[in-house]
Amino acid sequence: MSKIIVKKSPPLKGTIRVNGSKNSILPILAASLLSKEKCILNEIPDLKDVEVMCEVLTSLGADVKRKKRGIIEINSYNIDNYEAPYELIRKMRASFLVLGPLLARLGRARVSMPGGCAIGSRPIDLHLKGFKALGAQIDATGGYVNAYTEKLTGNTIYLDFPSVGATENIIMAASLAEGEAVIENAAEEPEIVDLANFINNMGGNIIGAGTKTIRIKGVKELHGAEHTVIPDRIEAGTYMIAAAITNGDLRIENVLTSHIQPVIAKLREAGVYIHENGDHVRVNANHILKAVDIKTLPYPGFPTDMQAQFMALLSVSKGTSLINETIFENRFMHADELKRMGADIKIEGNSAIIKGKNKLAGAPVSATDLRAGAALILAGLIADGETEITNIHHIQRGYAGIINKLKNVGAKIDLIEA
Ligand code: UD1
Repeated sequence: MSKIIVKKSPPLKGTIRVNGSKNSILPILAASLLSKEKCILNEIPDLKDVEVMCEVLTSLGADVKRKKRGIIEINSYNIDNYEAPYELIRKMRASFLVLGPLLARLGRARVSMPGGCAIGSRPIDLHLKGFKALGAQIDATGGYVNAYTEKLTGNTIYLDFPSVGATENIIMAASLAEGEAVIENAAEEPEIVDLANFINNMGGNIIGAGTKTIRIKGVKELHGAEHTVIPDRIEAGTYMIAAAITNGDLRIENVLTSHIQPVIAKLREAGVYIHENGDHVRVNANHILKAVDIKTLPYPGFPTDMQAQFMALLSVSKGTSLINETIFENRFMHADELKRMGADIKIEGNSAIIKGKNKLAGAPVSATDLRAGAALILAGLIADGETEITNIHHIQRGYAGIINKLKNVGAKIDLIEA
């Protein structure tokens, strides 16, 4: 089994460049199915999740070409298959995002139910509610969602919770519908805005992305487009914590600071110095940090995808911190792993109480999900001795080049391939 070995490292110093956003790329790749013309996507990192989404598109009949580093060309002229089978969908939940585009393009889709995952049951009821409101007939039995429609028609859809995936899937389905669809209580994440910008570049008519009310006027056809995805705000936040936890000094490039204000605010509250400067940030610390309380919320609140990494930081910050996780019901799996390294964490329902320790100790630990894996690397950087992280395929899903990026700024980290 491949593993990552992290040894206690000196304060990290130097420059790290952030990649294009994983959570933007996945829906944008799905949205390329909406057009019969060629789409070109830039700033696409080498990630397992991107590979899986490309496999899904190929299985549907799209011609997907990886050009020189970071560019993908997709031609979806020949979409001739409307079924995305279990073997593909089970690899990555986000591949369920092909349902909206398939329905819009072919009037028919059969996509395996994504099922649960380590961080919670993650239902799809809001996606289906949206498709039904647009006029699709849905049969969700036998492990598959079968969706049919003669035509999709705009309607008003209220989301009981501002689900990111449901907002994206509905936007894509509504882009080729007849008339106007309105999503109320929509997710406001920057990745939604990026998706809407891409579809608008293709000739779509979406306004209000980034607010709670999104209006999508359906168009007859979408043409090809070229698009550069936004920087990954979670990757940026993770490296900001790498600087903070090691008392280092990092310049992090390709960052849109407006997208990570809650992370910046909480780091400053903990005592980290952050200098925002155009498309980069400088993050440094030279003392023991303070405990802070965190509550995860939909954007623009504190992102659940930064919760695990913050827990690692708070494990060695002075005082007692409280983390309240309100997005996913089971997203504290990393707490047990951090405890193996000596952290003092108590879980009560959806809250974690963290008493900061002076130090952690390296231990064999397991990455239970993507962000949990990142949290263990961060903890390993300051733990005495050696931390051996297994189940690292989770980390490879979302952090392209993490080993080299950290090594280049002084981290003692190695990938041991099986
Ligand atoms: C996306 C992100 C993920 C991030 C999450 C929340 C991608 C590829 N993934 O996931 O990294 O952690 O947003 O910011 O962009 N829910 C329902 N019914 C539904 C859909 C969701 O109840 O139909 C619930 C989920 O169970 C969860 C909450 O809504 O408790 C948030 O889920 P959602 O916003 O949909 O997350 P994803 O789009 O899956």
